[in-house]
Amino acid sequence: MSKIRVFSGTRATGRLHLGNYFGAVKGYIDLQNDPNYECVYMAVDVHTITTPYDHHGLASATKEIIMDYLAAGLDPAKAIITIQSLVPEHVELAFLFSSIISVAKMQHLPTFKDKVKQHPDHVTLALLNYPTLMAADILAYKASVVPAGLDQEPHIEVTREIARRMNDLYGTDFPETKRIATPTQYVPSLTGEGKMSKSVEGSSINLTDDLSVIKKRLASCPTDSGKGDEVPKTGGVANLLNFVEIFQGIERKKAYENDYLNQGLRYGDLKAELAQAIFDYLAPIREKRLELEQNPEYVDQIIREGAEKARTIAAATLAETKRKMGFYGKN
Ligand code: TRP
Repeated sequence: MSKIRVFSGTRATGRLHLGNYFGAVKGYIDLQNDPNYECVYMAVDVHTITTPYDHHGLASATKEIIMDYLAAGLDPAKAIITIQSLVPEHVELAFLFSSIISVAKMQHLPTFKDKVKQHPDHVTLALLNYPTLMAADILAYKASVVPAGLDQEPHIEVTREIARRMNDLYGTDFPETKRIATPTQYVPSLTGEGKMSKSVEGSSINLTDDLSVIKKRLASCPTDSGKGDEVPKTGGVANLLNFVEIFQGIERKKAYENDYLNQGLRYGDLKAELAQAIFDYLAPIREKRLELEQNPEYVDQIIREGAEKARTIAAATLAETKRKMGFYGKN
């Protein structure tokens, strides 16, 4: 039986944080270790240029993602790991797909509207085309499974629509891609609102932050008097307790909840203990990452080899698509 293809990507906007790790990368690792799946994981740097970005820092930010992937446990012997812009077939396929999807449809996507609000002076064609490029990422490999967060569902829906229309119009055999939620936790923002995000200052802890940075981040997490009749279910306190559960276990969390309802909870102690637990949890990732930093050529080689493997698959899909769409060439 042939393997089920998996594709996922991370925008190249700097280091991976705990939200990326628990929300996505841990799931990537489970799939790469399952012999039923063939996985392709990329730092999606072409998507990065759809919003304002620093062109001096793009290349290094992209490589950082790959180094964090490898440090976290993605394995080039088990999955294809590389950088999107090294597989130019994605961009070409995206242009072909853009011929069958309407501007109105793209303008109505909630993700597009959010970005327009964030960057009102930067509403470009590339931004409008973001989901088309994402569909190309996925369909270049005919991936039927995409591990990604709930916020990506509208994009996956567009991917399915493109696949259906292409198959109807031109007789291609693109799959109907499904998003799968990683079985791991939703990691909240440290600010007490929304999810952990690179773009919200102070909301995240990176995989390789040292103890003092982790402490600083936790220090800015909003709390209350530490005592009450009911443990808060949302906001800063709820988030801190969620982190305690992830890194120290449910029993520790229950003990803190008990303190909250009785003698009172001391956030200073909680935060100090939690910072240490997070730091210890991340120790193997930090060590692996240091090793990789000693060996940048090795990382470059993984990226190159991954790109070669990816291109073999993506080029075949592109050639088939162009042929079916009626372009001049071999029949
Ligand atoms: N849009 C995704 C995000 O912001 C990144 C991404 C690009 C992606 N291409 C993809 C995710 C393909 C899954 C599959 O997180």
